[in-house]
Amino acid sequence: MIVTIDGVAASGKSSVSSGVARALGIPYVSSGLLYRAATLLGLEARLDLGEAAPLLSHLQMLPLRLEPLPEGNRIWQGERDLTPQLHQSAVDAGVSAVAAHPELRAWVDEQLRRLPPPFVAEGRDMGTNVFPQAGAKFYLTASPRIRAERRAAERPEDVDAIEAALVERDARDRVQSAPAPDARVIDTGPLSLEEVIAEILKGVKG
Ligand code: DC
Repeated sequence: MIVTIDGVAASGKSSVSSGVARALGIPYVSSGLLYRAATLLGLEARLDLGEAAPLLSHLQMLPLRLEPLPEGNRIWQGERDLTPQLHQSAVDAGVSAVAAHPELRAWVDEQLRRLPPPFVAEGRDMGTNVFPQAGAKFYLTASPRIRAERRAAERPEDVDAIEAALVERDARDRVQSAPAPDARVIDTGPLSLEEVIAEILKGVKG
């Protein structure tokens, strides 16, 4: 069984996916972290993130390992755990450029398709491109304001600035972020985390 949970930035995808996976007793896999890890390594090597080829050859020399854990995924590069650095603002700012390269998308997709089911796969194009055969597909949305307010509760940043950055990121991510035609779209705005998880579990079982 593969369950896909896609959606816009800061729609609560990772908390929801983790809750759903835990309830089902299966791992959850975050594709965004692979794009983020590629971005971090590119920035550290001072590569131009607008160019795919040098970044891809750099990544091929530094194999990454995605470790799906019930409480959240970790990404290792050898013995180094990259996870704590993957949500810094420099990575947020650079990741859309990395995710826009078809070569980089193919690199991420290949790593995801190697994982043995069952799992919950979370991202932007899990239900469309990566696992079109998935048995249950969901797509999470919420208004930019609500998403910004949720993020502001986790970070010491201004809500208006977060909202503006989210609107910009939505526009940049739009191409790969359309819902699959057979995905169930859930507006998480009026729902609590538990309610979204319950909605999805109903869909998976029904
Ligand atoms: O879900 P997230 O914010 O961690 O994703 C980070 C970035 O990676 C986001 O800008 C969109 C991109 N991404 C993508 O293009 N395709 C995916 N399947 C997952 C993430």
